[in-house]
Amino acid sequence: MSTLLSPPSPAPAAALEAHFAPMTPERLDAVLAVEQSAYSHPWSRGNFRDSLAAGHQAQCLLAGDELLGYFVAMLGHREVHLLNITVAPVHQRQGWALVMLDALALWSRARQAEWLWLEVRASNTRAQQVYLRHGFARVGLRKGYYPDGHGLREDAVVMNLRLEPA
Ligand SMILES: CC(C)(COP(=O)(O)OP(=O)(O)OC[C@H]1O[C@@H](n2cnc3c(N)ncnc32)[C@H](O)[C@@H]1OP(=O)(O)O)[C@@H](O)C(=O)NCCC(=O)NCCS
Repeated sequence: MSTLLSPPSPAPAAALEAHFAPMTPERLDAVLAVEQSAYSHPWSRGNFRDSLAAGHQAQCLLAGDELLGYFVAMLGHREVHLLNITVAPVHQRQGWALVMLDALALWSRARQAEWLWLEVRASNTRAQQVYLRHGFARVGLRKGYYPDGHGLREDAVVMNLRLEPA
């Protein structure tokens, strides 16, 4: 994934050109910094290391050396499960999540996947809106799927996207 990318028009005020590069152990410091700034319950370094060791599809979206965002996805039998997608807070609402979802859909289709799946916190309506805009549908609820601090749990909304054959 080395094509130069721009977010969908209208272009954001500070238009950036971006490219994808694999998430490698050397990039984990930058990934962790974004992760911790973007989530109340961030993934740990170990979560990312485990994903890389498992051979998951993990890509960073970069503008020069700056990390705009990243995603991690797991290939299954004719389906792909999106495990993490994050845009650095300073670069949110500029279309970069849609760029990453498009790239993931393309990669998934090329591997004969028919469905993209994900879970998202029920309270994360912003992310759900982005997924709906990209064509995902809400298809279920997993009760108490996420830890929510203080011994509480939060439900996950399950969403999927049917992928047309490549
Ligand atoms: C959820 C998340 C990944 C969305 O990323 P994002 O880059 O802000 O999303 P996008 O900008 O691609 O979403 C499309 C939105 O940008 C708008 N947009 C698209 N292109 C644009 C452009 N060129 N200029 C300005 N806005 C644009 C779209 O109209 C849409 O608008 P909306 O804000 O009314 O929904 C991001 O908010 C995030 O990382 N959140 C924290 C982590 C998280 O919750 N991850 C998901 C866990 S399941």
